[in-house]
Amino acid sequence: MIIVYESKTGFTKKYADMLAQKTKLKAYRVKELPKDIKDEEIIFLGWIKAGKIQGLGKVKKHNIKAVCASGTARNAEPDEETVIARNKIKGIPFFYLRGGCLPLKELQGMDKILLSMFLKMLKSRKDKDAKIEEAISNIENGFDGVREENLEPVLQWVSKNK
Ligand SMILES: Cc1cc2nc3c(=O)[nH]c(=O)nc-3n(C[C@H](O)[C@H](O)[C@H](O)COP(=O)(O)O)c2cc1C
Repeated sequence: MIIVYESKTGFTKKYADMLAQKTKLKAYRVKELPKDIKDEEIIFLGWIKAGKIQGLGKVKKHNIKAVCASGTARNAEPDEETVIARNKIKGIPFFYLRGGCLPLKELQGMDKILLSMFLKMLKSRKDKDAKIEEAISNIENGFDGVREENLEPVLQWVSKNK
């Protein structure tokens, strides 16, 4: 079994590195995946962008045994069922990992535009609760939610399935 991951700003990579260190499995970025590992069992980690787990499509013909997805919120956004359905991974063990985000001003290109639109939408809401205020602050100021304990369910799964 190997770890394969996709990470843009480094939060998912932190989990992949942590998992590799704790399980002694090798971790590869999607684009560094060796060609000769076609049948190898894979635990995949990717970041979520508008509900889509990034990088997963590029390895879907491989032997994926479990999928982890990182986002900024406490729970997968929009919600876990939608992420599972949108990524066609029903039946595969799924783990949400709280990642993080850079301050909006440090993002670039399309990601910055998309997140700015999302921020504007959150700010315009009349029903802002503590969760929405937290999301606004995280996007504006950045946030790092990576914690070792968040990996616990994944480690348990690996120890039973390695
Ligand atoms: C343009 C954009 C769209 C995002 N969409 C989602 C989303 O739909 N659901 C979610 O939970 N997180 C979403 N996020 C948050 C990222 O998934 C989160 O910041 C992730 O931990 C980043 O991982 P990375 O540092 O490995 O790239 C989005 C972030 C950006 C920049």
